Amino acid sequence: MNKEREVLLTQQETDEDRVLNLSLRPQSLGEFVGQPELVENLRVAVQAAQKRGEPLEHLLFSGPQGLGKTTLAYIIAHEMGTKITATSGPAIERAGDLIGILTNLGEGDILFIDEIHRLSKVVEEFLYPAMEQFQIDFVIDKGPYAKTIKFNLKRFTLIGATTRSGLLTSPLRARFGLAYHLNFYDAEDLVRILERSARLLGIELDREGASEIAKRSRGTPRVANRLLRRVRDYAQVKSDGRITPSVAATALDAQGIDPLGLDEVDRRALKVILEQYEGGPVGLEALAATLNEEPDTLADVVEPYLLKAGLLRRTPRGREATKSASDHLGLSPKRLL
Ligand SMILES: Nc1ncnc2c1ncn2[C@@H]1O[C@H](COP(=O)(O)OP(=O)(O)OP(=O)(O)O)[C@@H](O)[C@H]1O
Ligand SMILES: [Mg+2]
Repeated sequence: MNKEREVLLTQQETDEDRVLNLSLRPQSLGEFVGQPELVENLRVAVQAAQKRGEPLEHLLFSGPQGLGKTTLAYIIAHEMGTKITATSGPAIERAGDLIGILTNLGEGDILFIDEIHRLSKVVEEFLYPAMEQFQIDFVIDKGPYAKTIKFNLKRFTLIGATTRSGLLTSPLRARFGLAYHLNFYDAEDLVRILERSARLLGIELDREGASEIAKRSRGTPRVANRLLRRVRDYAQVKSDGRITPSVAATALDAQGIDPLGLDEVDRRALKVILEQYEGGPVGLEALAATLNEEPDTLADVVEPYLLKAGLLRRTPRGREATKSASDHLGLSPKRLL
């Protein structure tokens, strides 16, 4: 599998993504497209905090990858006029790694922890008093001379992001005053996001072209922006650079992105369920093993959109492919008689 292909499939961020996503990132709530209830709630929370002259309450964003959780954290910092420090669950190995970060936060500053469900237990417990009383406990010395010293922190705001809110422990969840879930975007919102990105990148994109890309973007702005760049490359090389619906469709077909936005891995997953597991149910672990993918990748990247698109169903006994899935792939579940 070549690099490019792999990137499209796994939807991981490349360096190109990172740079472009930064330049395309909306800076304010006003520029943020879609998720109207969430945006309104945040606006109220921000204004109320400002009116009281207090830091914002700790806030948790959950939802699938690429929907704008990180973007929102930066927007909130911008709206509150405060500094933001960003890190992630897996990056904080020991509680000690957090001491420096926490003690450097000023009043009202934001600490953003991405993939917060992946914090180790020890680090998580170290965070509790920091979140609750703005205090941390250091233990110095060992054995009979061990002493705990309390250190006061400035009142900061923790913003956590997670793709798997189900994996968050309840004590951690309980310490967030505000919690919001991000949903997949509808095609209309994605069209607006694509038009905005095209304008910023100087790409000629008509509404129908945008609509064709939007339909294949899995309800996800990050995917939409990535597909836009692939289609632009294609349009520049194979035609006059303008993105029409047929240019978009041809370019995305060539990348293995089908009209529902499914890629190779999605189709393979559904095909395996239909053909090797008789349509399901099959457990996540077994499915991952058959596909030679990590269960986490499957749960974080592949599954959410298949569920949302009604191609997959989650049952107590495992995952099942739906009739829409067999129709879409032109396969019927093989039942062993
Ligand atoms: N609601 C939105 N309106 C406009 N653009 C958006 C929106 N959400 C995301 N984007 C765009 O998508 C790009 C990718 O988003 P980004 O990489 O920041 O995702 P993210 O915030 O890290 O998502 P998550 O943290 O949920 O995985 C951003 O650069 C931005 O251009
Ligand atoms: Mg992110």
